Amino acid sequence: MYIYTDYDQQLLNERVAQYSSQTERFLDGKLTEEEFLALRLQNGLYVQRHAPMLRVAIPYGMLNSKQVRTLAEISRDFDKGYAHFSTRQNIQFNWPSLPQVPDILAKLASVQMHAIQTSGNCIRNTTTDQFAGVARDELADPRPYCEIIRQWSTFHPEFAYLPRKFKIAVNAAAEDRAAIKMHDIGVEIVKNDEGTLGFSIWVGGGLGRTPIVGENITDFLPQKYLLSYLEAILRVYNRYGRRDNKFKARIKILVKALGIDAFREKVEAEWQHMKDTEMDLPDAEIERMKAFFTEPAYVTGLVDDSAELQQHRASTPGFDAWIKRNCNPHKKVGYMSVTLSLKATSVAPGDVSTEHLFAIADLSDKYSFGELRSTHKQNVVLADVRQDQLYELWQELKALGFATANIGCLTDIICCPGGEFCSLANAKSIPVAEQIQRHFDDLDYLYDLGDIELNISGCMNACGHHHIGNIGILGVDKKGSEFYQVSLGGNSGRDAKVGKIMGPSFFENDIADAITKIIDVYVEKRIEGESFLSTYERVGMDPFKERVYAA
Ligand code: HEM
Ligand code: SF4
Repeated sequence: MYIYTDYDQQLLNERVAQYSSQTERFLDGKLTEEEFLALRLQNGLYVQRHAPMLRVAIPYGMLNSKQVRTLAEISRDFDKGYAHFSTRQNIQFNWPSLPQVPDILAKLASVQMHAIQTSGNCIRNTTTDQFAGVARDELADPRPYCEIIRQWSTFHPEFAYLPRKFKIAVNAAAEDRAAIKMHDIGVEIVKNDEGTLGFSIWVGGGLGRTPIVGENITDFLPQKYLLSYLEAILRVYNRYGRRDNKFKARIKILVKALGIDAFREKVEAEWQHMKDTEMDLPDAEIERMKAFFTEPAYVTGLVDDSAELQQHRASTPGFDAWIKRNCNPHKKVGYMSVTLSLKATSVAPGDVSTEHLFAIADLSDKYSFGELRSTHKQNVVLADVRQDQLYELWQELKALGFATANIGCLTDIICCPGGEFCSLANAKSIPVAEQIQRHFDDLDYLYDLGDIELNISGCMNACGHHHIGNIGILGVDKKGSEFYQVSLGGNSGRDAKVGKIMGPSFFENDIADAITKIIDVYVEKRIEGESFLSTYERVGMDPFKERVYAA
């Protein structure tokens, strides 16, 4: 992973000192709420229902064990004994006290971490595939490009006050695991007919109040133009994006209003001033970044699916199911990537306790070269596990509660914090997730159902990605009572789609029943091997609606 230079570290240390003094002045009454607001947001601090919330950046989801131990210490010493993995690969602390935040930032800085640009109207954390660099279906490692984007965007003076926040995701694999079409900018690494690497770029995607799937602005951009082209897009947005209405301020609204062709014309015109200038990305810079993402010391001479592994799988069905669901193929023979499920029933999706953070750090040292990744589905990945150590790892994970073999299943729910923590919420989300997890607690049945994404948000801001869940649940407020609206057919992958609302919303206690009926219709209507999404696409909304709303 990227290692800070002295210059990077100095920048960070100075920033911590600056924020420390700003906090002091605020506490002494020398700065007003309003003056302090911009300063705290620039340092990742929201004010929430019970306490401030601090969002810590995890660039493209990569963490080393030392950083995880520091996060564990912060959760123990400054929070209530847990941290929350979010849908943009970040970590959030829900209970820091405002006067202690500078100390937290200082601790983060000691392990090359920070909370800069994790809120406010600037370019946020760049995210990517959690299997970046190790996936078998990948064209190139996206992480060096993410790091290049990170360095360009952090403290970019021109883009510190955009009309709204701005999110970039990068993907390089056949499967889109970074939801690039649902971001302000999605960068896809592609090869042209000559076999040269470049980028296909999507723009104007996003969730929130008005969910829109991004559109393609260029299908092949040579590598050297990455930053000049991104800069041209940002400039057009910065100039034409609406600042008069917060709800219409995202780039998706601008792209929609102008149409992709007119938007592209503006970007290309702007780009002409920048391309083939010092904004070009030299090959040497790309190589310099690639050098930070070299392969760990993989053991050679291993085999895939050894006789011993097959024997363990045959004799232990739970282990076999876990391999099928929670382990992914690896580009190196004899290795696999392991997803730790943070979706055990009765634990809020994405929450990890202090003890478990320490335990995960130890596991990454023991089994995965001291590194781990967070995923946008709120799980954690050990990317480089030897297959001959899988059985032992599985047993350790089982003891910790991270071996629930439900990755990609109905109970691997993405869920925002909702009414219990978030001051914007219309309804609770965590108890709804738990209700559904309890209802579908039979793993064999879940395996029979196959891949289904169920996502829950407590309000239309869509932090829980409800629009792009195959089944989406949105908390709505009706005259002071909490109700839940269900949508079907959303998809976050290559064929990204926004789900369709099924009909009238449900009372909290009826939601698991409604989901059960939806699943029943799928089971009755599916043809052999068909996924929930494919069945929905084939039979349409009506059969689901009829069953769920039957008198
Ligand atoms: C509890 C504190 C939180 C607050 C106050 C908050 C606030 C917001 C707001 C206002 C938006 C809407 C942005 C827009 O429409 O432009 C938003 C979007 C979003 N939030 Fe949160 N959020 C919180 C927690 C979280 C958590 C815990 C997650 C992860 C589970 C998350 C992930 C997201 C994502 C992915 C979006 C993107 C929607 C898009 O693409 O436009 N947020 N959040
Ligand atoms: S979706 Fe709404 S309720 Fe949930 S975290 Fe986001 S802003 Fe809060």
